[in-house]
Amino acid sequence: MVKSLSYFLIFLLAMTLLYCNDIEVVNDEYSQELPAHFPSINFPEGNELTAARIALGKHLFYDKNLSSDRSLSCASCHLPEYAFSDTVSLSKGVHGRIGERNAPSLTNVAYNKAFFRDGGSPTLELQSMGPIEDSNEMNLNILDAVKRMEENDWYIQMSNKAYGRTPDTYVLTRALGAFQRTIISGNAKYDQYKKGEIAFTKEEKEGMKLFFGDKTSCSSCHSGYNFTNYQYENIGLYEHYTDSGRMRITLKEEDRNKFVVPSLRNIAVTAPYMHDGSIQTLRDVILFFNSGGYDYDNKNNSVRPLNLTEQEINALEAFLKTLTDDGFLENKTLTLKEESKFPIIK
Ligand code: HEC
Ligand code: HEC
Repeated sequence: MVKSLSYFLIFLLAMTLLYCNDIEVVNDEYSQELPAHFPSINFPEGNELTAARIALGKHLFYDKNLSSDRSLSCASCHLPEYAFSDTVSLSKGVHGRIGERNAPSLTNVAYNKAFFRDGGSPTLELQSMGPIEDSNEMNLNILDAVKRMEENDWYIQMSNKAYGRTPDTYVLTRALGAFQRTIISGNAKYDQYKKGEIAFTKEEKEGMKLFFGDKTSCSSCHSGYNFTNYQYENIGLYEHYTDSGRMRITLKEEDRNKFVVPSLRNIAVTAPYMHDGSIQTLRDVILFFNSGGYDYDNKNNSVRPLNLTEQEINALEAFLKTLTDDGFLENKTLTLKEESKFPIIK
């Protein structure tokens, strides 16, 4: 018994060595430059950033082969020029099927505590199985997605370089996670103002004071470097909700109709707004908060009639526009040109 076990262990060791000899994981150091005022990112074990992982993930993110009829990529609903959000209230999946929620911006998604507007996915790696398999989105079995990767020599080569294995769900979901953790924005006009590099207009300053002051309480929820406290809150958007939000996950009454507080970075370019994309303009969002929303058991008391003047509403809007990071929106390393598809990897 003991002998056969030890034979088995030797066999296992030999197989591991054989397997390892075949492959070369490229642990090319990749130093991610984060804004100085951002905390470091917690990478899941085995998915620290390397250039190979990011390149693989980027190609997958822009690859329409990840949808059943090869019509949609992740970027079809998360458009880089709109801070990786969509321009419509509800995105169209394959065959024009409509989902239930608005596609959020992926700005700084590396810092999320959970994923989806109800926090339904605990990790970014798991998250990507959602849209690929969702019949209203890409509608492709994850194993079929892997098969399509296996049809492409570049993907096979890159999977080996990035993770030391041929394409599988591990590689597919990890690589997408790696790329998305490079979608970082922290150099908006607001950040430049804080660093003393640029001046604010009188109106922007007034808006900033309002945003961070007790008169509006905006920053009680939209706080910190990413303008969110990552909590789930009800803001009284409706009298009767059709989407129970966080409660879908926790099944707790106290979480009914609560949604995650979204980051406000690049907010001026991510319209339409709210979990269902029901508010079309930034000004209308401010007017909503000014109204105080519908009364609701679970509603957070900070959302209440604010009685803002026309001038104050304009000032808040001007301030929110300072959260746009033009360098990020134009960052070519986050996009993929047709001609650069599947480059030769040495
Ligand atoms: C058909 C449109 C569509 C496609 C295609 C799509 N998404 Fe999304 N994405 C959405 C919607 C809608 C949500 C919000 C869903 C929810 O909250 O329940 C979302 C949410 C997300 C989130 C969560 C963000 C957060 O802040 O919680 C991530 C990450 C994400 N998508 C990444 C991807 C990746 C990676 C792909 C490709 C594999 C992809 N998406 C494809 C529409 C899409
Ligand atoms: C009680 C916490 C809370 C307070 C206070 C609050 N918000 Fe929000 N905010 C949220 C939540 C939660 C959402 C998302 C609601 C949804 O998805 O239906 C949201 C959504 C938004 C959106 C739309 C974001 C998007 O991507 O769709 C903007 C803009 C916004 N808030 C700005 C403000 C401003 C300006 C103030 C102050 C006048 C404010 N918020 C006060 C919690 C809060």
